[in-house]
Amino acid sequence: MSDQTRFIFNETDLPRFWYNINADSPVPPAPVLNPMTMEPITPEFLNVLFPMGLIMQEISTERYIEIPEEVREIYKLWRPTPLLRARRLEKLLDTPAHIYYKYEGASPTGSHKPNTAVAQAFFNKIEGVKAMTTETGAGQWGSSMAFAGSQFDMDIEVYMVKVSYDQKPYRRIMMETYGAEVYASPSNRTNFGRSLLAKDPENNGSLGIAISEAVEVAATSGGKKKYGLGSVLNHVCLHQTVVGQEALKQMDLANEYPDVVIGCAGGGSNFAGIAMPFLRENLVNGKNARLLAVEPLASPSMTKGIYTFDYGDTAKMAPVVKMYTLGHDFIPAPIHAGGLRYHGMSPLISSLVNAGYVQAIAVPQLTTFEAALMFAKTEAIIPAPESAHAIRAAIDEALDAKLKGEKRVILFNLSGHGYFDMTSYEAYLNGELEDYEYPSEAVFESMKSLPQVLVM
Ligand SMILES: Cc1ncc(COP(=O)(O)O)c(C=O)c1O
Repeated sequence: MSDQTRFIFNETDLPRFWYNINADSPVPPAPVLNPMTMEPITPEFLNVLFPMGLIMQEISTERYIEIPEEVREIYKLWRPTPLLRARRLEKLLDTPAHIYYKYEGASPTGSHKPNTAVAQAFFNKIEGVKAMTTETGAGQWGSSMAFAGSQFDMDIEVYMVKVSYDQKPYRRIMMETYGAEVYASPSNRTNFGRSLLAKDPENNGSLGIAISEAVEVAATSGGKKKYGLGSVLNHVCLHQTVVGQEALKQMDLANEYPDVVIGCAGGGSNFAGIAMPFLRENLVNGKNARLLAVEPLASPSMTKGIYTFDYGDTAKMAPVVKMYTLGHDFIPAPIHAGGLRYHGMSPLISSLVNAGYVQAIAVPQLTTFEAALMFAKTEAIIPAPESAHAIRAAIDEALDAKLKGEKRVILFNLSGHGYFDMTSYEAYLNGELEDYEYPSEAVFESMKSLPQVLVM
């Protein structure tokens, strides 16, 4: 075994196709419903928000979907991203496990999000769309849409969850630098925002609310503006599969194969991106990697939520999908992993968790930051608080392997860096962060306002 640390290849090795798990998945997708009629949704309804190119990807069962050359050219600014072996972390843990991580923080905006932002802007652009709206929680997604908009000369309007807008001014300035307009959500620019501010002018916002505002603006623009979503939907998970396809080949370069593949999960896209190509290997090529999605105890959709039909947003304008949900009226605690505070989970990942192909765990905030610091002090990259959830799980796997005296090969997705998250690190270092566990009673209470759906 060599002592190589970085496993990289050059841009000619960049994947030419996105991999669509719906071609191989043993779990048929549940219907997506119109939020007004509860009937299966039509492409015409979705076309108010999305271009046809993306809608076709959303419902496609084709195994490989070609990445347009224009998108690949932009991907070359940062892809292929490196795979690294965390040798210094292994040493600190004194574990026989081998820990690898795929570093998606190498993108211009610092996370995996541009993998889909660039694709979404492209498919809008070729259908003549000149402006897009979107929401952002921690700011990673908004920055990525802003960057993608700048590449395609497109106006981008971002609704940023108020608590993050206040906590993360530099993310806002980054978006503005790329040319986007950024509004704290709830805002007074939409009917839904105004109705919430009338009830509570101090409303801190949530991802569900910000989605509602961005959807309302697009839906009432008379076709001028379309909407981009940074996670949850099939086409978003699809675009992220460049991550796992590269990682598969890079593990080959390292002459190893993972026993466990780990990703943090907010709406499910970076986890899907790294894990779905490995799930294909399990399903088709007789491999047996465990696939582990990690969420915060404060926003535990997969581990405490119910697998049922729910609205994708708080104002009940987005489609109704079958997913693990905490209820669309979920108001998250202000934990410092803004990107993991969504009430639901990608229907694709939800169905795989429900059928047992993917395992889900929840971890508390404090030990997650403890893991982030261990990683920063050994591997030097300061991780995004979201990604630190995957690090926590990877460290726990490595410690378990040590206890059992096993060599275990662990691969996790380091979905982003945390260089805009210093206020969160400051709060942790000052001892101001607390653990918070979302109560099951609140989940049951929220289930009373689920949509009434006849199909199951
Ligand atoms: C760095 C990072 N990782 C993970 C996530 C969670 O999103 P997803 O589950 O779609 O990957 C986010 C969301 O904002 C993020 O910024």
